[in-house]
Amino acid sequence: MADYVGAIDQGTTSTRFMIFDHGGNEIARHQLEHEQVMPQAGWVEHSPFEIWERTSSVIKTTLARAGMSGSDLAALGITNQRETTVVWNKVTGRPYYNAIVWQDTRTDRIASALDRDGRGDVIRRKAGLPPATYFAGGKIQWILENVDGVREAAEAGEAVFGTTDSWLLWNLTGGTDGGVHVTDVTNASRTMLMDLETLDWDDELLGFFDIPRQMLPEIRPSSSPEPYGMTLANGPLGAEVPLTAALGDQQAAMVGQVCLAPGEAKNTYGTGNFLLLNTGTELVRSDNGLLTTVCYQFGDEAPVYALEGSIAVTGSAVQWLRDQLGIISGASQSESLARQVEDNGGVYFVPAFSGLFAPYWRSDARGAIVGLSRFNTNAHVARATLEAICYQSRDVADAMEKDSGVKLEVLKVDGGVTANDLCMQIQADVLGVPVSKPVVAETTALGAAYAAGLAVGFWSDREELRKNWNEDKRWEPQWSEEQRAEGYRGWQKAVTRTLDWVD
Ligand code: G3P
Repeated sequence: MADYVGAIDQGTTSTRFMIFDHGGNEIARHQLEHEQVMPQAGWVEHSPFEIWERTSSVIKTTLARAGMSGSDLAALGITNQRETTVVWNKVTGRPYYNAIVWQDTRTDRIASALDRDGRGDVIRRKAGLPPATYFAGGKIQWILENVDGVREAAEAGEAVFGTTDSWLLWNLTGGTDGGVHVTDVTNASRTMLMDLETLDWDDELLGFFDIPRQMLPEIRPSSSPEPYGMTLANGPLGAEVPLTAALGDQQAAMVGQVCLAPGEAKNTYGTGNFLLLNTGTELVRSDNGLLTTVCYQFGDEAPVYALEGSIAVTGSAVQWLRDQLGIISGASQSESLARQVEDNGGVYFVPAFSGLFAPYWRSDARGAIVGLSRFNTNAHVARATLEAICYQSRDVADAMEKDSGVKLEVLKVDGGVTANDLCMQIQADVLGVPVSKPVVAETTALGAAYAAGLAVGFWSDREELRKNWNEDKRWEPQWSEEQRAEGYRGWQKAVTRTLDWVD
């Protein structure tokens, strides 16, 4: 068997390709950004062609950097930004419209109508999701209703839907020349169209959005000994490599962090934050504003579920300090600026730029900076921004504890913001539990590689993966209970203001 496994990580802002060895060590990588198309306020799109072109390019460059060819890879896995919706013509290979990104809020009316006539509760029960602009179902409906010719083509079986995993799988396995049209259970669980118990598209849910079933991909396990397909020898890999894993990026990070037992959780800090708790084969329904989602399904084993707290704006609030307020010149400066003050000086920042996701689900909420006095400076605002990242995580961690009864003992973290030492210290202080970061920070790509490698026997079992996880750094809580309680009270008051704003 070949000595390495490859993983494509198709994210919201960039696409990367990484090669790992048996120890889970990174051998090579390359990463390219793609354009964020924002035609009007609240709309966010990506070009599917650009994403495919960037994917091909990062694969070729990574292989060249490693001095390898595709035949050195035992298997290939894909992980991706979830919910982002592509509809394309499988005869011509052309997308009908740009990909509508998970952050896009144009389907606000479609989503809010669902709660007026009881359909919302059916979606909550069957799909485990609160009706929201975030998920793919409304985005597909929008394309069917607003782009000429799509509905007829969908009914004729020519226009097909996929999240970016499906789009890449189709292109990698031949495109118009017989590419496979598949997705995995984790991505399908983000559409509002799949029943979490049957793991199949549900006709009642499809009816809510008037989506023809024939446009949907086949739903497969996240790690599949029977490959979804083989890459084309004349494609970017230059060889036939079995495609044996696909999973949403947050679920892949769970696998990369080896959160493979019930009760294990991780928090990924990127554009937004995504805290997931493995609930095993038990489907835990949330009473506290979290999502129930598929965590992964390996081969023909029973699916493993997760509770998820999705937070829309965390790292992107730091970007806002840089790009809109201009008070820092780079993300790392948020730490040095915030370190100039001992505490937040009474200032709280709720970055509800696109409403609030979990646990509030209020698309009409808007951001607020509260508690300002003449004494406050940029440094307090920077500190309040880092605290906002941590308090939002506390909101979802508390909801998770209520839903599952599982008390978090340590929080495993990954993602770009974990490079911010102060932010991670504040996270430990705000939660009152230690925060722990692994040596391999690229847990998302690693998780896709693990899922692909397990399918072909490159890794023999999950214990082998556990041995690859090593702690790099740990932050212990330093605040007193009183400090923690007082700080959180201030945060909750600030959140109330952002909700009052629209009431
Ligand atoms: O649900 C959205 C999430 O999958 C996006 O993750 O890391 O691409 O911003 P990321």
